[in-house]
Amino acid sequence: MIRVAILGAGIGREHLNAYRLLPEAFSVVLIVDQDENRAMSLKESDGFLVSTDISDALRDPSIDIMDICLPPHLHVPVALKALVSGKHVICEKPIATSLRDVDQLEAAAAKHRRNLYPVFQYRFGPPLAQLRRLIDEGFAGHPQIATVETHWSRDAAYYAVPWRGTWTGEQGGAILSHAIHAHDLITHFMGPVSAVSGFATTRVNPIETEDCAALSFEMENGALATSNITLGAAGNETRLRFVFENLTATSSTAPYAPGMQPWVFEARSPGKQPVVDQIVAETPPEDTGFKGFLTEVAKNMSDAPNNAVTLQDGAASVMLVTAIYDAVRTGARVTLPLDAQHPLYKGWLP
Ligand SMILES: NC(=O)c1ccc[n+]([C@@H]2O[C@H](COP(=O)([O-])OP(=O)(O)OC[C@H]3O[C@@H](n4cnc5c(N)ncnc54)[C@H](O)[C@@H]3O)[C@@H](O)[C@H]2O)c1
Repeated sequence: MIRVAILGAGIGREHLNAYRLLPEAFSVVLIVDQDENRAMSLKESDGFLVSTDISDALRDPSIDIMDICLPPHLHVPVALKALVSGKHVICEKPIATSLRDVDQLEAAAAKHRRNLYPVFQYRFGPPLAQLRRLIDEGFAGHPQIATVETHWSRDAAYYAVPWRGTWTGEQGGAILSHAIHAHDLITHFMGPVSAVSGFATTRVNPIETEDCAALSFEMENGALATSNITLGAAGNETRLRFVFENLTATSSTAPYAPGMQPWVFEARSPGKQPVVDQIVAETPPEDTGFKGFLTEVAKNMSDAPNNAVTLQDGAASVMLVTAIYDAVRTGARVTLPLDAQHPLYKGWLP
């Protein structure tokens, strides 16, 4: 049984709901939030303890995983303390907001032989597993092009939480906080990004950080992708389209869990559609969202074959965000990977 402390009772509530669905693997023993009432509101009938002090989680030797659901500026300092204290870490996105901090996390994880699992729960659900299988079995062929839309609606009530929309608190805008999942899916299915260019602006809410962007990516394998982002849409939709040599995969528009609803998988050659349909039908079911994400963490912790999100995946995400901010500010085409000599290596805060 993996014993968990959840830090932060905002999205932490959804993590807790997923742990509750996996009682054979996980036991949540502590919820920490500086707002005690918020932490207590999660308690219901569970037997876990509640604290307002993160040190209580660090000091408890029975806790295996610290699940960090705190505002972004706290992710790195708390994750480092957890790793040094011998805890594995689950960390909400973004795991860090500079390449230098990622290097620190990687060094601490290696030194203390602990794992850090970045939260990219959009990767999980039946249609995502189906696409993975169509690729892995060699049907899809080489990736050609992808288009992703993160068209969400955020208003003054959302930005009433003081850390949001600020460089010091949120550390970025829609590129960092909202489209990060769609961008993770581009790299997950189409491979590492080798170049970025684009535009970003603030047009929806009176915030410091960007809330609209139009971005272009070139992948190492030659495929191309575009990402179109706004927090001023009429509703909330995430739309993903991956075009491969032999297959076009189109998501539903479910905004926060692309795995929740079926996707359309079309063979380029109509005669091959039965092969696609058969692979889709034979793909073992996969849990959606946080439950799917945590299922893979549990498998990874017990050395079973797994698709757990890795620290390297989180590092790639932070590198991509760094390259995007560089590209939109300079107007340049920024090539990846970025190294310690890059001007934004220590962070992109203006
Ligand atoms: N994976 C996703 O889809 C997803 C969705 C929403 C948010 N997030 C991420 O989750 C993180 C938290 O976002 P949120 O919307 O839950 O924020 P939130 O502000 O609603 O919740 C954060 C909680 O942390 C608590 N907190 C802050 N500082 C603390 C401290 N020093 N000690 C103890 N508790 C402290 C606050 O009281 C608050 O209850 C962010 O990094 C965000 O990007 C991820």
